[in-house]
Amino acid sequence: MLPISKMAAAVKPSATLAAGAKARVLKAEGKTIYDFSLGEPDFNTPAHICDAAHKAMQQGHTHYTPAGGLAELKSCVAKWYKRTYGIEFKPEQVIVSNGAKHSLHNALAAMVGPGDEVMIPTPYWVSYSDLVQMTGATYILVPTTEENGFKMTPVQFRSAITPRTRLVMLNSPSNPTGSVYTRAELEAIADICIEKQIGVISDEIYEQLVYGDAKATCFATLRPGLADLTITISGVSKSYAMTGWRIGWAIGPAHVVKAMDTVQSQETSCPSSVSQLATIAALEGDQACVGQMRAEFVKRRDLVVKRLNELPGIRCTMPDGAFYAFFNVSSWFGKTLAGRPITDSASFCAVALEVAHVNLVQGSAFGAEGYARLSFATSVEQINKGMDRLGALFRGEL
Ligand SMILES: Cc1ncc(COP(=O)(O)O)c(C=O)c1O
Repeated sequence: MLPISKMAAAVKPSATLAAGAKARVLKAEGKTIYDFSLGEPDFNTPAHICDAAHKAMQQGHTHYTPAGGLAELKSCVAKWYKRTYGIEFKPEQVIVSNGAKHSLHNALAAMVGPGDEVMIPTPYWVSYSDLVQMTGATYILVPTTEENGFKMTPVQFRSAITPRTRLVMLNSPSNPTGSVYTRAELEAIADICIEKQIGVISDEIYEQLVYGDAKATCFATLRPGLADLTITISGVSKSYAMTGWRIGWAIGPAHVVKAMDTVQSQETSCPSSVSQLATIAALEGDQACVGQMRAEFVKRRDLVVKRLNELPGIRCTMPDGAFYAFFNVSSWFGKTLAGRPITDSASFCAVALEVAHVNLVQGSAFGAEGYARLSFATSVEQINKGMDRLGALFRGEL
């Protein structure tokens, strides 16, 4: 029998992708499933971006590009940061990868290994811990609380630092909580990073999806010299409904980006040429599409939070960004639903799926027992139907 490496055996399948797969099985059995598990916009990629891809193919841009992406795209990304946040990055500080997840992987692979610790505030995006583990480094979870808006405090951060801490992974706006750190909150963390010389991977993939008064902050801009300690991660997947195009990027000190480029050249040669040209159209074209999607997400967020809070035993705080509601289900623990005991977030979500046909992701997958995540990247009609089904489940009607 062919062997399986220790590394591969230790990696867990993504809980969000697994939740999607479970729902697909029920759908194949002919059941109507209200699926709130997936982390991708339900909108199609805007037409002008697709047109740019057609044009790229017709013009013969169907070959390998430089490993870290086209020079044209790197300078377009750098210009986007200058326009959006006023920060100057040189093209050699930018690397384009096959999605933000790939950039995260390469950033970790370039910077840490066995003996190093990477701090991850919880709740965290499911992939972070596995991506750290794949490098041989150890991840240290720092639990945040609902009372603190699911944000790590400076005191928590400082007290979790050990002599082995190399990096902290920040994600604002957050998947799964939708929390957005204020500038002042991030400045307090930045000051500790500078004092202790801790590097930061700042995953800002949801930066264009913030609502109300919330503002996304580019961590690297917060203090002079902080860019030397920061790898900024982002991409087009979420803001431009381009999850399938697989383009993300990392921006950091040139020596780290160079190491990432070398890793990437041996892994994947380069990101898709056609997708790279489509990304230029996304970043430089009409931005009205982003505003339209954002407005739709606000409508859905308000509806979801209102409807969740109307359900017995459910408490949901208002997310300020991304497209997730992370709600407290712990008052159901120790009770039964549809005759089945609810002992944790996994058993809660299993009953929601199998009895109410509502697909959620258990909080434990994000390192936060007591909660469930609902993605509102789905239609108002689906949201209303799903909430009706959960209501019926809680009233004992299913
Ligand atoms: C916090 C976070 N970072 C990164 C990613 C990955 O994005 P991409 O599709 O560009 O790889 C996701 C996708 O769900 C995410 O939620």
